[in-house]
Amino acid sequence: MNLSTADDNIKRRIMTINKRISGLQEDNLYFYNQPVSELRGGARVLINGREMGMYASYSYLGLVGHPRINAAAKEALDLYGTGTHGSRMLAGTLKLHNELEETIADFKGMEAAITYTSGYATNLTTVSTLVGRQDYVISDKFNHASIVDGCLMSGAKFLRFNHNDMEALENRLKQCPTGSTKLVIVDSVFSMDGDIINLPQTVALCRKYNAWLMVDEAHSLGMLGKTGRGIEEHFNMPGAIDIKMGTLSKTIPSIGGYIAGSKELICLLRHTSRAYVFSSALPPAQVAAAKAAFEVILQEPWRVEKLRANGGQFIRGLKDCGFNTLATETAIVPVVTGADEVAFAMTRYCQNHNHFVLPVVSPAVPVGQARLRATVTAAHEPDEINQAIETISAAGKEMGVI
Ligand SMILES: Cc1ncc(COP(=O)(O)O)c(C=O)c1O
Repeated sequence: MNLSTADDNIKRRIMTINKRISGLQEDNLYFYNQPVSELRGGARVLINGREMGMYASYSYLGLVGHPRINAAAKEALDLYGTGTHGSRMLAGTLKLHNELEETIADFKGMEAAITYTSGYATNLTTVSTLVGRQDYVISDKFNHASIVDGCLMSGAKFLRFNHNDMEALENRLKQCPTGSTKLVIVDSVFSMDGDIINLPQTVALCRKYNAWLMVDEAHSLGMLGKTGRGIEEHFNMPGAIDIKMGTLSKTIPSIGGYIAGSKELICLLRHTSRAYVFSSALPPAQVAAAKAAFEVILQEPWRVEKLRANGGQFIRGLKDCGFNTLATETAIVPVVTGADEVAFAMTRYCQNHNHFVLPVVSPAVPVGQARLRATVTAAHEPDEINQAIETISAAGKEMGVI
């Protein structure tokens, strides 16, 4: 298609985003999609020829590049090759897939688990398999885009409640007709804010109103609970959640997503969820890496403890400098800058001083709530974290944020 002759909404969308991106690039304020060319130890990376401390990682326990996980992936590659024979339901299932799913079910304290090729696809397919046009799906306003998209795709009546506001959740539950099917979905740790869902009250409300509860544990796996098992362990509420979703791409240094639940639920998903039935299986090396990572988490419990200590140090340090870090209680620390431009300028300062942080701006977060989404992992050392705090603080002072 010749873009110059079209004059329609698609062309306008293309031009609008291209203009915004090229404007940022011209002002040297574009920081997305930068390629990492090397891992340099646990918490350092080489980007564009510059070695930087990594403060934007999702590898919360510092497992990317772990030798035992790498070895498991190489072994699977030698045994099975790089791909599978198709979709899981047909010829694509390997013994390794089943072993990974058993490992996940065990780790999450559920009867069974099923895996998909991404966390995004997991939410999309699970929500749209479980609820339909006659049903109600109730979602926290700060839930991840993949949950929102799953809710929209399901065709269910989609009700959203104010972030972590239990009165608002109860009002939504009351709004659903008696006897209707209700699915409540929440993130465990919110990916842009780092705060934790009020699980005790969410569970109590779901029981009171006879609603199913699905929790996305993308950011609580490895992060919450004494042994990193997640949000139920954090609140000491075993058996509280009906449907546990998680990813294999953050704490677990692989790719994919999972649902853990009852045997019957998993049987339904295994035979009717479209991302399982109509999409090819996870590749062997990634499956083996994921399985080994769950084992490493249990074998190296110091990682979970260190992550907690590092998160605490990072939050305290930034707050002491005068930053607004919202309600975070985890190693995901928003450093609120207000305007998008301020977030971009602070990012440039930090990256010029060899600390890799990234800005999150609208529409990913509400207008006026732009921020650096900074993270620490179990791979950081306390003196490295202090240096990062100093750099972010200097950036904040330069931009008048603190
Ligand atoms: C809360 C949440 N759920 C789901 C996903 C999607 O997971 P994946 O990256 O594995 O597709 C993400 C990833 O960004 C996330 O933050």
